[in-house]
Amino acid sequence: MNIGILNAGGDCPGLNAVIEGAVGAASARGWTVYGFYDGFEGLLSTPENERWRILTPESCLNIRSTGGTILGTVNKGNFTVKSGVGGRMQIADDVLARSKATVERLGLSALIVVGGDGSQTIGQELRQIGLPIVGVPKTIDNDLGATDYTFGFWTAVSVVSKQLDRLRTTAYSHQRIMVVEAMGRHAGWIALYGGISGGADVILIPEIPFTLEDVVRKVELTKALGQREIIIVVSEGATIGGKLLTLDEETKGEVRLGGIAAFLSTKLETITGIETRYCVLGHTQRGGSPIPFDRVLGVRCGAKAIDLIEEGKFGETVALHRTDMVSMPIEEAVRTLHLVDSKSQLIEAAREIGISFGDAGDAPES
Ligand code: F6P
Repeated sequence: MNIGILNAGGDCPGLNAVIEGAVGAASARGWTVYGFYDGFEGLLSTPENERWRILTPESCLNIRSTGGTILGTVNKGNFTVKSGVGGRMQIADDVLARSKATVERLGLSALIVVGGDGSQTIGQELRQIGLPIVGVPKTIDNDLGATDYTFGFWTAVSVVSKQLDRLRTTAYSHQRIMVVEAMGRHAGWIALYGGISGGADVILIPEIPFTLEDVVRKVELTKALGQREIIIVVSEGATIGGKLLTLDEETKGEVRLGGIAAFLSTKLETITGIETRYCVLGHTQRGGSPIPFDRVLGVRCGAKAIDLIEEGKFGETVALHRTDMVSMPIEEAVRTLHLVDSKSQLIEAAREIGISFGDAGDAPES
């Protein structure tokens, strides 16, 4: 049997582990794996311009330890379905037809789509024209309702945590406020876990609306207690007065978020008189080698996708539920976002240890 695999959308640590897992499990069954380059764009191959290669266990040996993706990826190409903030676009009919022609020409019995909600939505469109799709959920933001954790997330958290350790020492030396911008478009998971782990004083996330007044109050209280440095972690998707800060205008594809750390930094310095700097962690959170958890989750996702193909479970995506790999319909998987519950034990525990979320719910200062 011939099968294909591609990864689409933003990269994240653990993609290569998925590829290695899928290739290993497929090869054990005697199947041949076609790896498509640059996401769905690879499906637009022609005999004159092939954009795939055969993947073997030998050619994928230990890629699980490496960051990025050996196949490359694209998130603004011919298959773009997202536009601006929350907008949707249709994939052109000829693009769908050319994709189908490639799958038929190569004799593929299944195509594994490793991607986030946008890519899984594209996968659904391909399924509607008859392609046998199996999904693997991917995003460092960890905001897919389908699965308890997505690979790459804990690597991103570990980057934030380590960078906070570094930023704290320089903030201490200069008695500064340091505002650190973490990724997290709709969900604050990276800022939340990274911030708790790295000892942030304030964590600002999309799920908990904050006010500048409450952040200033926390900063001043912390200063009054004699603490030299103040660390604030903010998700790129956190809103101020309901406003989302973006880096560019709405172009083809999803709008780029960013700028909230710079904005807050200026405001806080002006209001408090405390010298303030900001640091945007950006793609350092997405690059580099995956931590062990993400390597293991990645290879398990890849192997499970092969199980689904063998069982004929097309239109399903793999998912991690507690300690087990399971599957569910892709439609269901992309329907709900996995967001931070502002009333959860995790938030309560963070508040109890003195972390502020920039709202009225802070623990009383003793
Ligand atoms: O969705 C994952 C993510 O890393 C977001 O956290 C971030 O907003 C976005 O991708 C960045 O995308 P790009 O690599 O296109 O700038």
